[in-house]
Amino acid sequence: MVEWTDFERATIVDIFSKMQYEVVGPAALARCLIVYPWTQRYFGNFGNLYNAAAISGNPMVAKHGTTILHGLDRAVKNMDNIKATYAELSVLHSEKLHVDPDNFKLLSDCLTIVVAAQLGKDFTGEVQAAFQKFLAVVVSALGRQYH
Ligand code: HEM
Repeated sequence: MVEWTDFERATIVDIFSKMQYEVVGPAALARCLIVYPWTQRYFGNFGNLYNAAAISGNPMVAKHGTTILHGLDRAVKNMDNIKATYAELSVLHSEKLHVDPDNFKLLSDCLTIVVAAQLGKDFTGEVQAAFQKFLAVVVSALGRQYH
């Protein structure tokens, strides 16, 4: 089981409580699709992903980015039980969607960049470490079904 310090718990809850899911989620997913274009292959039904402007303006990307953040919200609310929380989502991504688990890390890095840009000087080294730890636990839980 993952141990969390009081600072880590407070930081994660604080970041997510202030986050605008419908802004940060779309920005993070769009960035992932732009910077790592091979991730587009999973979203063949999302229509025009022709270039960065099309990706950023695509309403299905925006909607799904928001969905992903609501998915992360579940981990925030279950920090002591993240593996079990994501059991079903892990099966979905592996067995049904066939998403390569390396992509979870790519998306989580894109999310970190968007959050860092929004928080500015509040994104200290300690906050960064707590956020990255949280995302690493999420990535591990989502990848569990693949092991
Ligand atoms: C669907 C969460 C990463 C591809 C979903 C859904 C959630 C979710 C909540 C909706 C499930 C449902 O409808 O029951 C997450 C989280 C991620 C993550 C929390 C990591 C932080 C990824 C990555 C990819 C991906 C990296 C591919 C590069 C998909 C696809 C769907 C999906 C293709 C189905 C979309 C649709 O057609 O509606 N994900 N996901 N996910 N995810 Fe992920």
